Amino acid sequence: MGRLSGKVALVTGGALGIGAACVTRMIEAGAKVAIVDLHDGTGQALARQHGGNARYFHADVSVEAEVAAAIAGTVEAFGRLDVLVNNAGITGPNKPTHELTEAEWDRVQAVNVKSVFFGTKHAIAPLRAAGGGSIINLSSIYGLVGAPDLPPYHASKGAVRLMSKTDALLYAADRIRVNSIHPGFIWTPMVEQHIASMGGDPEQHRRDTGALHPLGHMGDADDIAWGVVYLACDESKFVTGSELVIDGGYTCR
Ligand SMILES: NC(=O)c1ccc[n+]([C@@H]2O[C@H](COP(=O)([O-])OP(=O)(O)OC[C@H]3O[C@@H](n4cnc5c(N)ncnc54)[C@H](O)[C@@H]3O)[C@@H](O)[C@H]2O)c1
Repeated sequence: MGRLSGKVALVTGGALGIGAACVTRMIEAGAKVAIVDLHDGTGQALARQHGGNARYFHADVSVEAEVAAAIAGTVEAFGRLDVLVNNAGITGPNKPTHELTEAEWDRVQAVNVKSVFFGTKHAIAPLRAAGGGSIINLSSIYGLVGAPDLPPYHASKGAVRLMSKTDALLYAADRIRVNSIHPGFIWTPMVEQHIASMGGDPEQHRRDTGALHPLGHMGDADDIAWGVVYLACDESKFVTGSELVIDGGYTCR
């Protein structure tokens, strides 16, 4: 028996990066997993790789009807929902606050914050029907501490941290646990693009970014996926409203 045998999970942004690692590690632990993303080719290929244990659903997480349809499709395909991983996110433009447009601000909040609202809203009924479950929201070290860049992104991750605590309180009586995860820098397409946008030598930027972590390097997507497996499974049955920090010591200082 795997730690997630019999459970059905949905991972937004599951085609690439941290989301894809969560899909693979949860399936290895015995779950059936719905992959929700916009990258259809990559998401479908990942689903095929896992045979009948995965299904791909195209949805933009900033559009409520698409999120609702993906959750309904997951329940139809696998019969239930036990775990929701609100993982999809974007960094948005790297500009100081006074140069940002309203549209740039709104897009980051739509993808990073409204998505968590939509996912949670439409997951509550199937999670209640399953007798409880686990919602895992991807925040960031930048939901805990500040940095002098990416203002809309950091605001969005602070919001996700507190939304997790509110929903933990609201749904505890339904045995639905809600926790946030706070990764340090993890080597994924998101960070690769962020580093490329800085100009200069990307290898040097990679080393410098790694050195921000007391452990001396960036994390891997699996470092986060193992935390997701823990929060998804019954070993964490007494854990709700918590902040799981997986950051190589970044926020210790
Ligand atoms: N990589 C890091 O260093 C890091 C650190 C802290 C927090 N996080 C958070 O972890 C999560 C995953 O990050 P990642 O590094 O794997 O990112 P990534 O860019 O590598 O992958 C994100 C995935 O989300 C999907 N996605 C983006 N917008 C979407 C939308 N509107 N609808 C549906 N899918 C969408 C993308 O297609 C992609 O598959 C994000 O919420 C991110 O903010 C990442």
